[in-house]
Amino acid sequence: MTDTTSTRSALSFEVNRRPDPAQAETIAKVHENPGFGKTFTDHMVVIDWTADGGWANARVQPYGPFQLQPAAAVLHYAQEIFEGMKAYRHADGSVWTFRPEANAARFARSAKRLALPVLETEDFLESLRQLVAVDKEWVPDPGESGEKSLYLRPFMFASEAFLGVRPAKEVTYAVIASPAGAYFSGGLKPVNLWISTQYARAGAGGTGAAKCGGNYASSLAGQLEGMEHGCDQAVFLDSSTHTYIEELGGMNLFLVYKDGRIVTPELTGSILEGVTRGSILELAKEEGLTAEERRVPIQEWKDAAASGDLSEVFACGTAAVITPVGELRWEGGSCDHRRDGHEDTIATKLRTKLLDTQYGRAEDTHGWMTRLA
Ligand code: COI
Repeated sequence: MTDTTSTRSALSFEVNRRPDPAQAETIAKVHENPGFGKTFTDHMVVIDWTADGGWANARVQPYGPFQLQPAAAVLHYAQEIFEGMKAYRHADGSVWTFRPEANAARFARSAKRLALPVLETEDFLESLRQLVAVDKEWVPDPGESGEKSLYLRPFMFASEAFLGVRPAKEVTYAVIASPAGAYFSGGLKPVNLWISTQYARAGAGGTGAAKCGGNYASSLAGQLEGMEHGCDQAVFLDSSTHTYIEELGGMNLFLVYKDGRIVTPELTGSILEGVTRGSILELAKEEGLTAEERRVPIQEWKDAAASGDLSEVFACGTAAVITPVGELRWEGGSCDHRRDGHEDTIATKLRTKLLDTQYGRAEDTHGWMTRLA
């Protein structure tokens, strides 16, 4: 637990507050039923970068539209990356975030892959502190669901107006924030998955391990295909053999076996290294489970479901935390992982452990929490 608001950021932030911030009643109304990604706080952070001058003009300003040239490179060549994080309000009113150094490190890796400039970890962390300090009232109490938070979305894009294909010489970094409840409208209701055979999300040597908008765009046709088959999300397989499980596009996957093994696809370069995924692997070992990171054939999933060896499947990510998988469907078949109650599942146990740490209801034995405000 890093209880500090001091900073070693090289950037100094100018704060320009909006004259008409939302009233307490308006914020309370949003907090009643925040959903996901619908409402945004009063302010945002913006930092400019140029090839000649580096990072400059770090500021907190009123939330609002960017002025962007139609020729801005991001609109044509998708040179863009982002992160997903949450700010959690603890019982004493303080506000914390979870493993932000891991997000900062992944943001830097994504930047390198997309030929964008690296924002130093301390500047990344300071941008979060600056925004949360100004919009602290927007951080909800956990509420009855025990999982309301302020979703933080740092992102960076090529803002240079230039149609030649090369790394942009003008880039914008920003952070916006949005009160969040459950990612899926059904709450902890299991999600149904469709095996996408027509589409892959990413391929060898591509951008699959980077958190860039393009990966999410490429997952949408598969998701649509899944929705046409009555599913919520698609499972993507490896692009070369179409036999190994990769991820859902916005979430990593875990298979739980009756014999106490918990298995997730290994990081092959085309899967996103989820911060929640890594944390679950650690928590699972502490629960006495045998954690395996390896290639997982889709046939193994189907066979283990048919034989009864598989007890649970769940998806995970910052936004969705841990969400149980109900049915897996494919052309001509399906298998079902639904259970009557969720109380005694491994997914629920790990989810509770994670949320209790994030909300300060349990001791942070891993040093995963950092105070923002
Ligand atoms: C997250 O879990 O934070 C994600 O980035 C997934 C999705 C909302 C894009």
